[in-house]
Parts: sequence; structure tokens; C-alpha cells
Amino acid sequence: MMSEIPRGFENVKEEDHRMADSELVRIGLIAELDAISLYEQLAAHAKDSLVKKVFLDIAREEKEHVGEFLELLKRLDPEQIDALEHGANEVREMEG
Ligand SMILES: [Fe+2]
Repeated sequence: MMSEIPRGFENVKEEDHRMADSELVRIGLIAELDAISLYEQLAAHAKDSLVKKVFLDIAREEKEHVGEFLELLKRLDPEQIDALEHGANEVREMEG
């Protein structure tokens, strides 16, 4: 269910790694999307209404984090902007 940071990444010396910021941001995006799913699943299983409420509130916060990373990704990878719009248009076309 949960994504993992690429194996061995934590041991890579800063001067040695060649991972672009756009790649780092994509990893962040994956983590936030996973977090949303996790908190929503935990909320669904919570018996206590306050626990459920807090999980759902945190899930909403994670959605904002997705927005932050998405904004960064669009700045770091301008091709992503067109790809997002193209994907959205494809869905609209399939919708009829
Ligand atoms: Fe987050």
C-alpha cells in the first residue's frame, strides 16, 4: 500500500546523488497520496467519532500538501502542465 523512497536513497551522499528536484517532488506527491488513502482507511475503521474526525481532518490537510507538490512539479516540469490538461480533456471527451 505504501510507497517507498527508492532503495538506498537515504544512504546517498548529497554530492553523489543526481536526483532532480522534480523527482524528489514526485516522491513527495506519492507519499501524500498514500497518506490520504491511509488516513481515510483509518477513519473508516475508527470506532470513536473524534478519532474518525481527526483522521479525516488530517486527510484533508494531506490533500493541500498534494496541491503544494503539484504546484512545485508544474514549475519544475512545465511539460506536466500540458499533460494534466490533456488528461483532463481526455476524460471530458470520454464523458461525452
Ligand atoms: Fe503531508
